[in-house]
Order: sequence, then C-alpha cells, then structure tokens
Amino acid sequence: MNLKFFLLFVLLILLFNKQIYSILPNKSFQEKSVKYNYEVRYYQQVVDHFGFTLPIQNFSQRYLVDFEYWKPGGPIFFYTGNEGDIEWFASNTGFMWETASLFAQSGEYFPCIIFSEHRYYGESIVPGQNDNPPNLRYLTAEQALADHATLVTALKQSTPGLENSPVIAIGGSYGGMLSAWIRMRYPHIFVGSLAASAPILQFAGMTENTTIFYDITTRDYTSECANTIRESWELLRAKAKEPNGLQILTEEFKLCTPLTDVNDLINWFVNGWTYLAMVDYPYPANFLEPLPGNPIDYLCELMHKSSGDIIEKVRVGINVYYNYTGSAPCFNLSQSATANLSDLQWNYQACTEMIFPMSTTGIEDMFEPSVWNYPEYVQYCKSAFHVEPHPWSGGGVLQSISDTLIAIIIPSGAHHLDLRYSNPLDPQDVIQARDIERQWFKKWIDEYNYNSFRK
Ligand SMILES: *[C@@H]1O[C@H](CO)[C@@H](O)[C@H](O)[C@H]1NC(C)=O
Ligand SMILES: *[C@@H]1O[C@H](CO)[C@@H](O)[C@H](O)[C@H]1NC(C)=O
Ligand SMILES: *[C@@H]1O[C@H](CO)[C@@H](O)[C@H](O)[C@H]1NC(C)=O
Ligand SMILES: *[C@@H]1O[C@H](CO)[C@@H](O)[C@H](O)[C@H]1NC(C)=O
Ligand SMILES: *[C@@H]1O[C@H](CO)[C@@H](O)[C@H](O)[C@H]1NC(C)=O
Ligand SMILES: *[C@@H]1O[C@H](CO)[C@@H](O)[C@H](O)[C@H]1NC(C)=O
Repeated sequence: MNLKFFLLFVLLILLFNKQIYSILPNKSFQEKSVKYNYEVRYYQQVVDHFGFTLPIQNFSQRYLVDFEYWKPGGPIFFYTGNEGDIEWFASNTGFMWETASLFAQSGEYFPCIIFSEHRYYGESIVPGQNDNPPNLRYLTAEQALADHATLVTALKQSTPGLENSPVIAIGGSYGGMLSAWIRMRYPHIFVGSLAASAPILQFAGMTENTTIFYDITTRDYTSECANTIRESWELLRAKAKEPNGLQILTEEFKLCTPLTDVNDLINWFVNGWTYLAMVDYPYPANFLEPLPGNPIDYLCELMHKSSGDIIEKVRVGINVYYNYTGSAPCFNLSQSATANLSDLQWNYQACTEMIFPMSTTGIEDMFEPSVWNYPEYVQYCKSAFHVEPHPWSGGGVLQSISDTLIAIIIPSGAHHLDLRYSNPLDPQDVIQARDIERQWFKKWIDEYNYNSFRK
C-alpha cells in the first residue's frame, strides 16, 4: 500500500497579509449572524487511554452534533477540538456548516457535523484538574487524539446509518495540528484531514527560523505604524524609570491595579499586537475580541491621525484590540488576551509537547530584541508546573509530503480565515482555498465509497 496522507496544510499566518480592502471598516456590513444548529452531548471518556490500571477512571467529554444535512451513509465532518471552549470554536468555524449545506444541496453528499471538545478545556473537565495544584498529568496531545478517535468510533458504532461513514478531520491552529496528526495516527478511522493555519513546522528541531513568526506579524502593519510600535518600547521603559513613572503609566493606560513591573505592560502590548495580526479579518468579527474589519489598517489610521506622542499613539492603537466596544472601564494586565482560551492548560502544554522556539530582532520585526533561551524556558516550566519539556516530540510530522499532501497558501489570509463562514468581503484567494478544500473532501469521500463498494 502506498503511504497516503490526505492532508492539507493551510499556512495562513506564515504569509504576507496584503491589504486589499478599504482602509476603514465598513460598519454597514456586519458578519452574517448565522445561527449554527447543534445539539450538545456528553460522552463517558476514559481518562488514561494508554494505561491498564483498574478501576478505569472516566470523565465527561462534551461534543456537539448536527444531523440536519445528514442522510444514512453520509460522511462525518469531525472538528478535532483544541485549546478552548468547543462552542466557541464552533461559532467560528462556519465553513463546516456551509460546506455540509452546499454538499447536501448538490444532492450527492449528506454530511453530519461533529465538534469534539479537547480534554481539560471548556466543560470537559478531567478529575484533578481543578485541584490545587492542578493535576494535569493526562493533558497530552496523544490522549486528546485518542479521545477524538474513540468518540467518533463509538458514535459510528452506536448510530444506525453512521457505521460505514467516512470521517474527515478538520481543525484550525493547534486543532489543525491535531487533525493532521489524527490522520497519521489513526488512518483507518480518518480518510482525510484539513489542517488550517497549523504551525506544525514551528517545532524545535524542525525550524531553522525562529524569527519568522514575528517578522510576518510585523508585515501586517504599515511601516509607519510598525516604526511607531518599535520606538515605543524604549520610551515605555524610560518612562517607567522616571520618578513616579509606574504610577504615571498606570494612570495614562487606565490600569485596574497599580503597575509594579513595566514588563507586565510590555507583555500586554506584545500580546495585543500579535493577536491582532492573527485576527486581521476583512470584516468585523469577534473571535478573540470584538473587532472592526481590517482592524490593523483601522488602528494604524487612528495612530497616524493621533496628534499625541509615541506613547499616546500606541495607547490609541492598542485600545482597538482591548477596548473596541468602549466598555472597558480599566485594563487588567493579568487578564489573558482572550477570555475564551484557557491560559493555565495551554501554558502547561507549551511546557511539555508544544514547544515553539521564537525570537525577535527588532530589525525585521517591530518588537524588542529577544533571543530564544531554552534553559531559561526549562527553568520556567520546572517552577510553574514541575515538568521538563520534551521538545522533540513533534518531530517527523513533515516527512510524508506527497502529491496528496497539499499545501494551500492564502496570501491575504488571517488565522484560519478559510474555516469561517463565507463573507462578501472575503479575499478571492480564500474563496478559492475553500473550493479546493471542498474538492478534496469530495475526492476522499468518493475514494472511500468506491473502495467500500469493491470489498
Ligand atoms: C458598505 O457595504 C455595503 C454592503 O456591502 C455597501 O452597500 C456600501 O456601499 C458600502 N459602503 C462603503 C462606504 O463602502
Ligand atoms: C467509562 O467509559 C467507558 C468507555 O466509554 C465505558 O465503557 C464505561 O461504561 C464508563 N464507565 C462508567 C462508570 O461510566
Ligand atoms: C527568517 O525568515 C525571514 C522572513 O521570511 C527572513 O527575512 C529571515 O532572513 C529568515 N532568517 C533566517 C535566519 O533564515
Ligand atoms: C474604553 O473606551 C471608552 C470609549 O472610548 C473610554 O471611555 C474608556 O476610557 C476606555 N477604557 C480604557 C481602559 O481606556
Ligand atoms: C484581573 O484578572 C485576574 C485574572 O483573571 C483576576 O484574578 C483579577 O481579580 C482581576 N483584577 C481586577 C482588578 O479586575
Ligand atoms: C466565549 O465565546 C462565546 C461565543 O463567541 C461568547 O458568547 C462568550 O461570552 C465568550 N466567553 C468569554 C468568557 O469571553
């Protein structure tokens, strides 16, 4: 048998974001408020898939199903849940409903939709995770992959008409990595996989270029805007050193609690600028935070128009990310950049399997120079979680690139834009990417059906 990994990489964030749409958002167009139908269900999942100790411990794994387009024998679109609440991912993955609906209209394929929550996130609480200190022992990508594979297998066995349905794995970001890996690890269960914006090249030992992420983040900003941001770091640090500097910054930035370390403010900025580049969608959206369409063009324009000094300009700019709705009375620097992603669990994963070495130079990128320091990182992981990273565990993923392992590059994309519901403001290349993705879905389903028929 020839080794076929039907896998699509959509490297969105690793590319330029060419700004081809109007500079200021068109407020008259709001993202289609599509209500996705689904039913919330729970599955008694095994806590440890790779141990044999009795008694078997279980936890309740949440998942979402939608059978409205389905007919017996129809394929399964299976979202491999990642680091957050599964309903939130569902509400940002309109592509699955839209594709199911298009397929059903064509009269050829009648898919059902399943979203499987990642253990330790959302409502899929594993015993011990809320202890103090939390027990995160079974929080691994391997266990999560086994959850996803076990769930879909159980559903196929227990649902009449689903027994022989081909399953396509779909995911974005870390969820995209999971959908890529699940096809590799369980090829008998998944006939194909769509991995959108999955940074699977970014692991230690696989990437020679640790600066590329921040280089590309910077290219989303106009050069004037990036220069202002690049100049701001030194000024913020200088201001913090002045008499009462921290207090002045606290007031200027309307912080909820007095600033005690300027690095907290700097990190808050870095997170805001970085997340903005990931969610630079061409239309208003509320993925991480509520934002206008083309938020970076929007904020760069505001910064350009502001008559204040550099610190005032960056304050105006960052407000677009953290306070677009104008409802923040003050800023809480210890609040994560998005309330919907769980920090503790992800930081743990970033200390065990998901090591992404990244550095900045301040030359190609707009951030302060910082060198990736592995020993320091290990020290942090040991003190925070009593774990030591195994940075090589992601290795080997890219060895099987072939004519069926397709990369779709979306030059004007944002972070897994292709997984969202279509929108009149979508760039042409995203529309094309979705078409290509659908062609592959059909090909996988047809091949599976043909092979099943021959048996
Ligand atoms: C804003 O979008 C609407 C709907 O797409 C369109 O009719 C209108 O002309 C747009 N306005 C501007 C100023 O681009
Ligand atoms: C635990 O989960 C397994 C696998 O889903 C199931 O067979 C078993 O009945 C569950 N045990 C309990 C006590 O729910
Ligand atoms: C990393 O990638 C960036 C952006 O493509 C490029 O400018 C830079 O020269 C690369 N650095 C190395 C060390 O390859
Ligand atoms: C958020 O925006 C509103 C409206 O512009 C403003 O009144 C408020 O001060 C801002 N909050 C912060 C913390 O800057
Ligand atoms: C800031 O956020 C943290 C973490 O969510 C929370 O524990 C804290 O109470 C918040 N502080 C204020 C003043 O809102
Ligand atoms: C998470 O996202 C959902 C759906 O987008 C939203 O309704 C909810 O308010 C968000 N939760 C938090 C804590 O921000």
